[in-house]
Amino acid sequence: MARVIALIKANPAATSVAAGLFVLAMLVAILIGLPPPFMIALYVVFVVVAWRIYRWRMRGHDPRPATAPGGILATSTAVAFVIVALAAQAVPYGRSHSNPAITGEPQWANAETRALMVRACFDCHSNEVEWPWYSNVAPLSWAVTKHVDDGRNKVNYSEFDQPQRDADKSLEEVENGSMPPPYYTFGGVHSDAKLTPAEMTTLLEGLAATPGLSE
Ligand code: HEC
Repeated sequence: MARVIALIKANPAATSVAAGLFVLAMLVAILIGLPPPFMIALYVVFVVVAWRIYRWRMRGHDPRPATAPGGILATSTAVAFVIVALAAQAVPYGRSHSNPAITGEPQWANAETRALMVRACFDCHSNEVEWPWYSNVAPLSWAVTKHVDDGRNKVNYSEFDQPQRDADKSLEEVENGSMPPPYYTFGGVHSDAKLTPAEMTTLLEGLAATPGLSE
């Protein structure tokens, strides 16, 4: 521990870069709705790999300088970034893009209600998920898979033959603006899911008139 503190004190530049990258990683996690533990794990692996590469490249320097040479530190960091980005693609989680059979749907009040729900909700709460191209690229694939897993877990509008524990919160979630989640439509992505005030009124009326979707 004392050694680590001494290292940090001797390398203010490297420490600020590491801290800056951590903040950046966490901001990206929030933006794409990736749960922090995933991003922290990725970051820790990255720091360890960068450190190992740096140590390896400094193997000839004896005694090792207290302050890391900037060039070697920068290239070690860059190489570690590439290695970890590639290795992340090999993680099995997030690769299966399932769409199980549709076994039952709510008795939609009308076709328009269903259409609006497909646009705004089915990418996370159905077995008709349109897996985007970036759902093949980690860590985005982890985020997308987590959203679909958690979303289906709460309510799956494609398996309405079975009890869906939070289905009756559908109206409320849309009304208070919690669903779809803010990250889903951030910066103009999934603009289809961004409903106009008129569409919103139609959807809320439709949800109220569909059995099981309000309390
Ligand atoms: C990007 C994926 C995504 C989209 C799109 C989405 N949801 Fe969700 N939904 C989730 C996730 C993830 C959860 C679980 C959230 C949690 O546990 O905090 C959830 C939870 C819910 C819940 C349960 C809430 C609770 O507190 O138990 C309801 C009801 C719901 N969503 C309805 C909807 C409706 C209706 C739409 C469309 C208007 C929608 N969702 C769109 C991902 C999504």
